[in-house]
Amino acid sequence: MKKLLISKLIEKAKEARLKAYSPYSKFSVGAAIMTDNGTIFTGCNIENQSLGLSICAERVAIFKAISEGYRKFKALAIVVDTKNPCSPCGACRQVMAEFSVEMDVIMANLQNEIEIRKVKDLIPDVFQGLTKSH
Ligand code: THU
Repeated sequence: MKKLLISKLIEKAKEARLKAYSPYSKFSVGAAIMTDNGTIFTGCNIENQSLGLSICAERVAIFKAISEGYRKFKALAIVVDTKNPCSPCGACRQVMAEFSVEMDVIMANLQNEIEIRKVKDLIPDVFQGLTKSH
């Protein structure tokens, strides 16, 4: 991926992080996903006092894109305020894999330290029981 696109997605994810609703964990996450035609959707984590109803930033961004008609993605940036970039939870990895196993996942912190992995490397043995016969 081009450096300029990577920094653009990280900037969008940083902006989205500021909108996080995370009063319980106080852990704010921002995400920005780029579709195959370059459209960007953002997301932040949204918590609930019934804690299990909370949703991660990555899934908010993906679901916004899907609900607007997009199904193929080039890259997803995730921004957190941690010492090292933070990798996405298992549930979000499964959701990413549903749509784009080749997508680049850009994990960044506020200091712009980044790590990039493909979805297929983050979740190598993804559940595909309903579409692939075993
Ligand atoms: N969270 C995300 O938004 N993305 C992840 O990949 C892991 C965790 C959120 C969920 C919750 O609001 C907070 O971070 C603490 O787990």
